[in-house]
Amino acid sequence: MNKILVINGPNLNLLGTREPEIYGSTTLSDINAMLKEHADKLGVDIDFMQSNIEGEIVTAIQQASKVYDFILLNAAAFTHYSVAIRDAIAAVSVPVIEIHLSNVHAREEFRHHSVIAPVVMGQISGFGVDSYIAALDIAVRKLQKIRGEHKE
Ligand code: DQA
Repeated sequence: MNKILVINGPNLNLLGTREPEIYGSTTLSDINAMLKEHADKLGVDIDFMQSNIEGEIVTAIQQASKVYDFILLNAAAFTHYSVAIRDAIAAVSVPVIEIHLSNVHAREEFRHHSVIAPVVMGQISGFGVDSYIAALDIAVRKLQKIRGEHKE
């Protein structure tokens, strides 16, 4: 069975109470429960980690390469300046989808630039919880294509 890892970066543990006008009122454990239910329907294994610490995310990406087929990553503020996370993604062969709840391009200028964008497969931004669901759907479709189960 294919395995997918969802990594959430700093302050996303506060979802639900953190700036709800921007990020909504859904908690991270609600999001993870929705993803787990969706992953069960799609027939893939899914694991979750959240960290406020850059180095822990770097280590998770390094270790994921041996275990997981895809990473769904909301690097939060690290998106905009973490060369270490960018280099970790570039160093491993596991594909990564970059996720944002909010539309980062419609917000402050410092959020318009993603240092990880050049080394991920693609970016999904602005759809709230659906950014995660869409990323999971895309990851599973890509994996099915690799296995030759899905043609278009
Ligand atoms: C975010 C957008 C980032 O700019 C911000 O620092 C976050 C969350 C999002 O999901 O919209 O913490 O990644």
